[in-house]
Amino acid sequence: MRKPFIAGNWKMNKDSAGSVELAAGLAKELKDVDSVDVAVCPPFVYLQAVSNAVSGSPVKVGAQNMYFEANGAFTGEISTDMLKDVGCTYVICGHSERRHVIGETDELVNKKVKAAIESGLLPILAVGELLEEREADKTNDVVKTQVTKGLEGVSADDILKVTIAYEPVWAIGTGKTATPDQAQDVHAMIRGLIAELYSQDVADKIRIQYGGSAKPANTAELMAQPDVDGLLVGGASLKVEDFSKMIKTVA
Ligand code: G3P
Repeated sequence: MRKPFIAGNWKMNKDSAGSVELAAGLAKELKDVDSVDVAVCPPFVYLQAVSNAVSGSPVKVGAQNMYFEANGAFTGEISTDMLKDVGCTYVICGHSERRHVIGETDELVNKKVKAAIESGLLPILAVGELLEEREADKTNDVVKTQVTKGLEGVSADDILKVTIAYEPVWAIGTGKTATPDQAQDVHAMIRGLIAELYSQDVADKIRIQYGGSAKPANTAELMAQPDVDGLLVGGASLKVEDFSKMIKTVA
């Protein structure tokens, strides 16, 4: 009953020609896919070109980040209206690289989630534990805090506009994928938390993606888990062949 949702996070990769080539290749390859929601998240500067390249196809566009203020003296930041203006449907909020490299807090991530919803963008709230947190048996505590704080003030009317992406930090870009059981355990915990925070009905409907070295070879087994509703893909989303194969595995 939850439509699968697979998004590609291109991170700080590609140039303008490469972005358009990848986007146009995916648009062509995936033109008949309607049983999976698909999005690509290129760097800010290529959003418009990518939007043009996927226009009319099932591939939607998302941003990797945003700022929560509407406009004004915020040098270097990008607003939700700007993202909509260049064709974005989605925006990733709180990716672990933003949290751990740039220093974003749960409070800042929460402001972004709320501003995204307010503007009509669909936020992908990314959460996940560090290796030392997993080893110290703190995975559930860390993820619970990130989800609870990230969604603070998001009403029951709006919560289903949010996708949650569980990305264990130790699995990102490392080639180390969480086992399907490890992913399922945390996804089930998140769904239980959403039932507590909202309702069982909301928990049954919200989509939870897995991210962290997802690739064509592990897509089927990850997606076979009952609480894994999609994938947030880094490295494997940079090639038309790999990313479209992942989507076709699920479609
Ligand atoms: O947001 C996607 C991500 O962090 C996972 O990256 O390269 O491990 O698939 P990767």
